[in-house]
Amino acid sequence: MEPFRIKSVEPIAFPTAGERAEALRAAGFNQFRLDASQITIDLLTDSGTGAMSAAQWSALLNGDESYAGARSFRRFERVVRELTGFTEVLPVHQGRAAERIVLSCLLKPGQASVANTHFDTTRAHVELAGGKAVDLPAPDGGNIDIDALRAQFAVESVACVVLTVTNNGGGGRLVSMRNIREARAVCDEFGVPLILDAARFAENAYLITQSDPQYANTPPRAVAEEMFRLADICWASLKKDGIANIGGMIVMNDPDLAARCRTELIAYEGFPTYGGLAGRDLEALAQGLLEVTDPAYLRYRAQTARWFGDELGKAGLTVLQPTGCHAVYVDASALFPHLPAHRLPANALLCELYLEAGIRASELGTLAFGRVDPHGGPDIPAPRELVRLCLPRRVYTRSHLEYVVEAAARIAERAHTVPGYRIVDQSAALRHFTARLEPDR
Ligand code: F0G
Repeated sequence: MEPFRIKSVEPIAFPTAGERAEALRAAGFNQFRLDASQITIDLLTDSGTGAMSAAQWSALLNGDESYAGARSFRRFERVVRELTGFTEVLPVHQGRAAERIVLSCLLKPGQASVANTHFDTTRAHVELAGGKAVDLPAPDGGNIDIDALRAQFAVESVACVVLTVTNNGGGGRLVSMRNIREARAVCDEFGVPLILDAARFAENAYLITQSDPQYANTPPRAVAEEMFRLADICWASLKKDGIANIGGMIVMNDPDLAARCRTELIAYEGFPTYGGLAGRDLEALAQGLLEVTDPAYLRYRAQTARWFGDELGKAGLTVLQPTGCHAVYVDASALFPHLPAHRLPANALLCELYLEAGIRASELGTLAFGRVDPHGGPDIPAPRELVRLCLPRRVYTRSHLEYVVEAAARIAERAHTVPGYRIVDQSAALRHFTARLEPDR
């Protein structure tokens, strides 16, 4: 059960079936274009959508809004230093700002960044810096393939190795401590920095305690501390495991690289003791970073994902197993065998979830990752047609998720009648955020 009780609540909307059909049509059958006020259960992302604790809300009033050297920054810096072991702490407004700053200081044009899987924005910043983003996931979906990583050094100039913990692109699976250590050894051998994209560091640490007997009795915070100390640099969106609505960080020990990053920080984010955040945000983050490694909270989070995945499976959906913590990933092509990739089965499932019950989730299929065929044929498909049902932190209870499971079961019963979709209007890049579609019966 939830290891907290609720003291502040927010009503949710229950649009009627007719209102949902009209809203989806007006949104061009793209859930990103819906207004939040039209959603009953919003599982679009776990980023910035968490509920803050009473301690975080009260910390807000302690925010020191001094432009330079604010007390709130010192508190944030102290908490981050203790957790990560790094001395240089740079706040930023969110994860992608950290990626841009570090990659623009680290990568030379033509060099590669090699990862278990780059998150979309990380890939974009590697490419904007003139580099090449190479993903080498191991078959388990979380770890990096160590042999392939080593081989990559023979093929091209590698500037850095990035481990995304947990691997959001790979089903939210954990990166094992052994894998982090092995990647560390490869980085030492070739003299390149190991970077952690630590957006979900606490969830990764908890999953390590559950899967590695060596860590079965280690507190998740100690596991997280060990993970950080194996890396040279870490960037993180703190909108996830900072359990706040905005924020991010860059941490490292290298004072020269930190100085170059600070110059970028001042130009793009703000003075180095606030980095695009208000003092009160830094207070909420410092408190969130203390709360997130609570074993009772992490156990609840992992068990919720597991239970939700099992129930969706019983409802007739094909769920990626094992589940992680932040989301459940569903294979839409298994549910809709009559819809080939270019008819966008993952988007079809999103539309059905909304039409059936006002539920929003995200598409990780051909709409997001497919490409237009230069010869005018059907889209070049994504590797998989996944729908990600994300779990905002401390927001929805089990009965909210039961409501989702019930809707999924009704959709599964009529799966063979569900139409595919066709894109009628799309942008040149990142088309899934803005595209307009229509049913393709
Ligand atoms: N890295 C990972 C692993 C992420 O999941 C995200 C964001 C980022 C970096 C970028 O951070 O949004 O603060 O700029 N993921 C969100 C998601 C958007 O829905 O998975 P940001």
